Amino acid sequence: MKKLLFQFDTDHYPSVFDNIVAYDGGAEHVIGHGGLNPENVKSLVEGAIFTRAPKDKKNTAIFVGGSDMSAGEALFNAVRNIFFPGFQVAIMLDSNGSNTTAAAGVAKLGAGIVIAGKKAVVLAGTGPVGQRAAALLAREGAEVSLTSRQWLRAENACTAIAERFGVKVKAVEAPDQDARGLSIAAAQIVFAAGATGVELINAEHWQNNSAIEIMADANATPPIGIGGIDMLDNGNQRHGKIIWGAIGFGTLKLALHRACIAKLFTDNKLVLDAEEIFSLAKEMT
Ligand SMILES: NC(=O)c1ccc[n+]([C@@H]2O[C@H](COP(=O)([O-])OP(=O)(O)OC[C@H]3O[C@@H](n4cnc5c(N)ncnc54)[C@H](OP(=O)(O)O)[C@@H]3O)[C@@H](O)[C@H]2O)c1
Repeated sequence: MKKLLFQFDTDHYPSVFDNIVAYDGGAEHVIGHGGLNPENVKSLVEGAIFTRAPKDKKNTAIFVGGSDMSAGEALFNAVRNIFFPGFQVAIMLDSNGSNTTAAAGVAKLGAGIVIAGKKAVVLAGTGPVGQRAAALLAREGAEVSLTSRQWLRAENACTAIAERFGVKVKAVEAPDQDARGLSIAAAQIVFAAGATGVELINAEHWQNNSAIEIMADANATPPIGIGGIDMLDNGNQRHGKIIWGAIGFGTLKLALHRACIAKLFTDNKLVLDAEEIFSLAKEMT
């Protein structure tokens, strides 16, 4: 009985990264479908849930990915709505690596300091990784703000987080580096979640800030998100702050992503979204 992973992607071309990690995580055959949405996914899901006997269904699993977080969430929910008792397979959501990256980053932050009660700022937090990181930090008890170059984009992301996770995140408009520097003035935790190759703040914005205790940057494409750190920073100290660069915590992200894939093939009722993936990240940290 082969372990089959159906890679359902909301983008036209299914992610090559997700495809490789699926094999590395233990899938024996990965079947990628691109351009999926709630309207065209039904027959694919029915094919996955009806074919194998109940005891064998754990050998079939679905991975939902793609670059658009809200499209991924809609597809993930649509697939789950087609399941019914006795006819379901394990499923995981990780649009643009959002859950695994945010879970790994926030788990590293939580291993370094107590998150509850701290002020946290997610810089450029409107993307898939930033939204998940903001939600996880808020669920851990931090007072979280999320920045965007446009206030409406920040506000929409905060609304989406509140609807999905029931936590409050504050929207902050920060159109340039100095505004983002100001946004972290009173923060103890900084998580940079900007697009690849964009320096969000420079070294002067954080090095002399005595409030900041810990920072993480998800961007591994130079210039990286936080000037004055290194993408290889691995929980080391810089200017009295604990620093996690993208490659520094990327090792856990990859291991976590693979571990999630392996877990999918253990129980056909498994649902892996932010909360479950974060629990696993904390166990692995
Ligand atoms: N370390 C890892 O293992 C790992 C894994 C996956 C992803 N990543 C990285 O994690 C980061 C976040 O991923 P993502 O998919 O969530 O990012 P994304 O959606 O591509 O971008 C996040 C946000 O960056 C802001 N942004 C874009 N261009 C900008 C510019 N020129 N100046 C300032 N802000 C800008 C945008 O916010 P506004 O338009 O709202 O301002 C955007 O919503 C990326 O760097 C990605 O490469 C790392």
